[in-house]
Amino acid sequence: MYFALFLPLLVPVAQAQLHTLAVAAGVKNLGSATDNGELTDTALVAILSNTSEFGQTTPGNTMKDLGFHRWVTGGTWTKETLTTALQNHVTNTVIHYKGQCYAWDIVNEALEQDGTFRKSIFFNTIGEEYIKIGFDAAAAADPDVKLYYNDFNIENPGKKSTAALNIAKSLQTSKTKIDGMGVQAHFIVGSTPSKKDQIATLQSYTALGL
Ligand SMILES: *[C@@H]1O[C@H](CO)[C@@H](O)[C@H](O)[C@H]1NC(C)=O
Repeated sequence: MYFALFLPLLVPVAQAQLHTLAVAAGVKNLGSATDNGELTDTALVAILSNTSEFGQTTPGNTMKDLGFHRWVTGGTWTKETLTTALQNHVTNTVIHYKGQCYAWDIVNEALEQDGTFRKSIFFNTIGEEYIKIGFDAAAAADPDVKLYYNDFNIENPGKKSTAALNIAKSLQTSKTKIDGMGVQAHFIVGSTPSKKDQIATLQSYTALGL
């Protein structure tokens, strides 16, 4: 009832949609994720394009390196050649979209649930420093864009969120630019982390200035 009573005083209710309300509450952007396959759905695209509903969008998987990964996994690499390929990929992609993106997930899902590094071709060939190499290449290509580490199941205290925090700390220690953490919130109704746990974990990231 309080909403019904007071909301019209804040913003006219006809225009009071998700992004507008989020901004009024002090959130920078309320966004959504989408992918190329959904962009033929005109009803979806109309809602997604409505800036009173969504202030940003994140490509779900399309901009991630799935295609790149396959090309990479089919190759034969040394640490040096894969490092160069990684630097070229990040540099060229970031320069291509320079000025058009607010932020990049530079490294996505580098961790296993137990907090160890995923044994990806990047980890196996280059070692843990592939993460720093990616962030450094992006920062050099576009000093103004925000750079994030992104993963799932890092909203509650545990080995994985601690490991994600340690990635950020390690980058900061080596003076590598990292601006934020991407949390994917793949929540299941009835089994989400508690609000208290989510707040504590997010605060562990913001405590680093992220
Ligand atoms: C955006 O959504 C709001 C709320 O549903 C609606 O009033 C407005 O007409 C929409 N704008 C466009 C351009 O569709």
